[in-house]
Amino acid sequence: MIEIRGLTVAFGAVVAVDALDAVLDAPVCGLIGPNGAGKTTLVNLLSGFVRAKAGSVALHGAPLLPMSCAQRVRFGLRRSFQTEQVVDDLSAWDNVHAMLDHVPHSRAEAATQVHAALAHAGLLGVAAVPGAALDLFRRRMVEVAKALVGRPKLVLFDEPGAGLDENESRVLREAIVSIPERFGAQVLLIDHDVDLIAAICTQTLVLDFGRRLALGPTRAVLDDPDVRRAYLGT
Ligand SMILES: Nc1ncnc2c1ncn2[C@@H]1O[C@H](COP(=O)(O)OP(=O)(O)OP(=O)(O)O)[C@@H](O)[C@H]1O
Ligand SMILES: [Mg+2]
Repeated sequence: MIEIRGLTVAFGAVVAVDALDAVLDAPVCGLIGPNGAGKTTLVNLLSGFVRAKAGSVALHGAPLLPMSCAQRVRFGLRRSFQTEQVVDDLSAWDNVHAMLDHVPHSRAEAATQVHAALAHAGLLGVAAVPGAALDLFRRRMVEVAKALVGRPKLVLFDEPGAGLDENESRVLREAIVSIPERFGAQVLLIDHDVDLIAAICTQTLVLDFGRRLALGPTRAVLDDPDVRRAYLGT
């Protein structure tokens, strides 16, 4: 569960997140809003890449903002980036294994976890293939697998489906929606594809100019007249 209280993030005069209050408690939550609404800023704030000007965030009751990036990873926070970060000259296995450098684990546990993460992402067949030889889809799935090792508590996905075709998106969607049950982590998903959000997120937060425009069950949020006007252009 993510509890956000009075959160403000500013870049000089630009207030990217503005006095935001939100409690996200669904296993898979959506985060949507127009370009520049503050979605990536919120993910950067949660993962420790930007600082808050005011407010607090608790993850499962633990105050998140006093923790360093490294402490957040050890605590169980994971994220993917809008552009994927797969290392070209490491195999898919080693790309995923490298994540464990940042969390305490036993050697036996490591192999089991990397295996489970690659299996979940459908990558066991290419475990030995170097990052450079993987296509865009498989590189994106490596990003997913990386988020699943080391006992994650919260996984943040920033547009993980960008550039994928319909079939690939469906595989990605199935991999994401089953993360809470298989790995015990909550998922927060940013995507511009409202159909994807509607299909897999039970709860959705809509930002507009850094403010909370709506929060609730996804269907109700997408039917909200304010959301339709501001975001869906109707
Ligand atoms: N490092 C930064 N320095 C200055 N302004 C920034 C910085 N990062 C974001 N902003 C500004 O903060 C606001 C929110 O940007 P953000 O990237 O969080 O939006 P977003 O909802 O992720 O948009 P998109 O859908 O285009 O990815 C925008 O006005 C943006 O220009
Ligand atoms: Mg963004």
